[in-house]
Amino acid sequence: MARRYLRQRAEMGERELHGRAGRAKGASSDSDSDAGEAMRLFCESIADCQKCRLAKERTQVVCGSGNAKAGLMFVGEGPGREEDKTGQPFVGAAGKLLTQIIEAGLQLRRDDVYITNIVKCRPPDNRNPMPDEIVACHPYLLRQIEIVKPKVICALGKVAAQTFLQSDEPIGKLRGRVHPYRDIKLIATYHPAALLRNAALKRPTWEDMKLLRKEYDGVEL
Ligand code: URA
Ligand code: SF4
Repeated sequence: MARRYLRQRAEMGERELHGRAGRAKGASSDSDSDAGEAMRLFCESIADCQKCRLAKERTQVVCGSGNAKAGLMFVGEGPGREEDKTGQPFVGAAGKLLTQIIEAGLQLRRDDVYITNIVKCRPPDNRNPMPDEIVACHPYLLRQIEIVKPKVICALGKVAAQTFLQSDEPIGKLRGRVHPYRDIKLIATYHPAALLRNAALKRPTWEDMKLLRKEYDGVEL
């Protein structure tokens, strides 16, 4: 049920995207130069969201951070404790590792990419977000993708990968290759929190980052 809804949303979103791209030629309030402002307004608009039960226990909505016209977007699962406290995505232990992957691994600056999550509010006790919560929050992710228009999306971990790809396959099966997602290249890899628990996942993650960098701008690491 959640899956069918998401597929419908994806098809709708696709039509919206194409319609917009047609209109956006020349000047538009949504053109690249206005992406930062569009994102700021968007994040402001969801700050009081009550669309799912995650609203009850969160401290604040964690919308996203980084460059609103980035060519590369990272999407995690949902805010953790530190993120809920600060309002910024990926600032705890997993976030520090993600920053290292971006800076030392991909040789990009964290500020140059856009970072967000599948759900924007912290699930209690860091449980996985439930399907209806993912569905409730999904239009927000689609709007962010519409604003940023990334060339490549990196889905971090099982929840993000399965949501984008509408798949039940484990992350170990979804990683390691490029998936078409609309006109965007989607690469799934392990969540940085999983790397902190299991160092053996670092090597395949590094392979995924090499693939990502190649798809991003043809640079081989
Ligand atoms: N884990 C996530 O999936 N997202 C965050 O923002 C932080 C930790
Ligand atoms: Fe709204 Fe998303 Fe937060 Fe649910 S998780 S309350 S849909 S912003």
